[in-house]
Amino acid sequence: MNTNTFRPAVLVARAVFPEVVARLRQHFDVDDNPEDIIYNKAELTRRLHGKAGAFTTGGDRVDAEVLAANPQLRIVANMAVGYNNFDLPAFNAAGVLATNTPDVLTETTADFGFALMMAAARRMAESEHFLRAGRWDRWAYDMFAGSDVHGATLGILGMGRIGQGIAKRGALGFGMKVIYHNRSRLPEATEAAVNARWVDKATLLKEADHLVLVLPYSPENHHCIAAAELAQMKPTATLTNIARGGIVDDAALAVALRERRIAAAGLDVFEGEPAVHPGLLDVPNVVLTPHIASSSVATRLAMANLAADNLIAVLTGGTALTPLNAGQLQRRA
Ligand code: DGY
Repeated sequence: MNTNTFRPAVLVARAVFPEVVARLRQHFDVDDNPEDIIYNKAELTRRLHGKAGAFTTGGDRVDAEVLAANPQLRIVANMAVGYNNFDLPAFNAAGVLATNTPDVLTETTADFGFALMMAAARRMAESEHFLRAGRWDRWAYDMFAGSDVHGATLGILGMGRIGQGIAKRGALGFGMKVIYHNRSRLPEATEAAVNARWVDKATLLKEADHLVLVLPYSPENHHCIAAAELAQMKPTATLTNIARGGIVDDAALAVALRERRIAAAGLDVFEGEPAVHPGLLDVPNVVLTPHIASSSVATRLAMANLAADNLIAVLTGGTALTPLNAGQLQRRA
């Protein structure tokens, strides 16, 4: 390699596949984090000094202050489809490109959402804990009797690519009736392809046997499922959240589960994660997983490679593959 060639510097803020870091090293001077230290804001800001690009994950908050302290930064590539860790208007104002990793995780995440919904409906975690605790001493007619998934009504809140993947699984694989609510209604052809019918939010809450949340987080969506919404659901219903922490009021959900106002929940994301509301840890009728919906080996590798592709493209004179704010940058690109 010609050492006189200018090589932009890039921060990889979290530990990631070594082969992806090696790819980045072919183009950049890389400051990586193989020990996976969680950088606080001051440390992230400091580490970004002199960097033209950054590889982040959903837990790395990049806001106006971080950007203002690093005017040399040109691109931040998030290894996640969600980007609520980015203050996008601040990116636009600072002229910094933001990218995410859509599409490559759609089917894997839909698989997991469906599995989590099934696990909640059929009480898999609860019954497994019972067995492991050595409490299984007989067959019983009503042992961990849950609710059916096949033929039930699947409600989906947020009908983007992942929501549509879940709808397809429900309608085509399990003969479910699928209803959804989304700010904008899908084109008729898309609705027909996934066998789903748009309803208002109140109808969705009232009619769903299994409600799955797949909407992106925004301040408007904060606690969009709270005590009032939980009260509108069937007492036999399940709630699955693979969207983002903060969309559900976890304290209210813990009460609803404890009081059996809904039957069960499956949660992969939490308000303030990795902390989990203690009320949720205390109730048996919830399946809890640590934000792993997109985590198959192949998909996490594809996400990391896509984030790397975005950095390589932009910092070697090309265009980003999956930009979030191209065309909205108010200053230098
Ligand atoms: C995403 O891609 O937004 C996931 O939540 C990260 O795993």
